[in-house]
Amino acid sequence: MKPAVDQDLCIGCGVCPSVAPSVFDMNDDGKAEPIVDAVPAGDEDVAQEAMDSCPVGAITLE
Ligand code: F3S
Repeated sequence: MKPAVDQDLCIGCGVCPSVAPSVFDMNDDGKAEPIVDAVPAGDEDVAQEAMDSCPVGAITLE
């Protein structure tokens, strides 16, 4: 499961690193970005929750 954040859509709300800190962090532009190439084993649920919680639908999990 590969996480991605659309930098044009992210408004920097901060929900995803708060919900899934093992997968997302905020970058210097104030937007979220994945910190791993693949969601760590056992963190699929929180990654999914982060995607579902993003208010602008910027997160994808492939
Ligand atoms: Fe951005 Fe959505 Fe995360 S707006 S900070 S990608 S929850």
